Amino acid sequence: MLLPVESMAETPFPTISEPEGEGVECVQPEEEMRRNHMNYILHQRDQTVHDGIRTETYSLARCIDCHVEPNENGEIAGHDEPEHFCNSCHEYASVQIDCFECHADRPQKYIQRSKKKQDIREELNAALTAEDSNGGDQ
Ligand code: HEC
Ligand code: HEC
Ligand code: HEC
Repeated sequence: MLLPVESMAETPFPTISEPEGEGVECVQPEEEMRRNHMNYILHQRDQTVHDGIRTETYSLARCIDCHVEPNENGEIAGHDEPEHFCNSCHEYASVQIDCFECHADRPQKYIQRSKKKQDIREELNAALTAEDSNGGDQ
């Protein structure tokens, strides 16, 4: 269903902008993140929401804070544009994610956080309620 990173190596790879600066490192080594970033953020979704576990290290908001920056004109690419860090590869590899329907696609310092947070809680609750009533064996 999804194109593995290995098979992309033979075709021109999209430009991925990475944070620069002394001592700025990803939460895991680059190679690990390139292949397995989804594992760190995906399975946290259920943990966070159902068990209240929250690991700051793998917070999606933190990924965005570090990886997404305005360009020289002060514009920040949206998650559906090729310039957005998360979309640079995904568009290329035809990966679809729904994360940014709820989560902010730009750094927290550029958004009104408290309002957004309230909104996504409501949206998530609605989504989970819908899932519960569709799923489940009766
Ligand atoms: C403090 C800044 C910082 C945070 C937070 C951060 N990253 Fe990174 N990330 C980097 C840097 C810098 C690199 C380039 C490799 C390196 O130096 O480690 C990178 C590399 C990557 C790559 C590989 C890109 C490529 O060129 O192949 C992916 C994918 C990635 N990060 C995803 C994430 C995700 C997902 C999160 C949140 C769980 C995250 N990063 C959090 C700084 C960060
Ligand atoms: C270095 C390229 C690259 C970058 C940068 C990148 N991704 Fe990915 N991502 C991929 C590839 C390739 C896949 C599909 C991997 C597979 O299934 O083997 C993927 C898959 C995913 C998936 C799983 C989708 C699914 O339906 O299984 C999620 C979630 C995801 N990425 C989130 C993110 C987020 C959030 C960011 C930005 C913080 C990001 N990715 C940045 C290449 C990238
Ligand atoms: C229907 C709305 C919704 C969707 C879609 C969604 N999330 Fe979340 N997510 C939430 C809510 C609500 C929380 C809890 C936020 C909090 O407590 O601050 C959360 C928390 C998280 C957290 C831990 C806290 C943080 O700040 O990062 C991660 C990581 C995360 N989600 C990743 C993802 C990823 C990756 C996707 C896409 C594959 C995704 N979410 C899709 C609503 C959603």
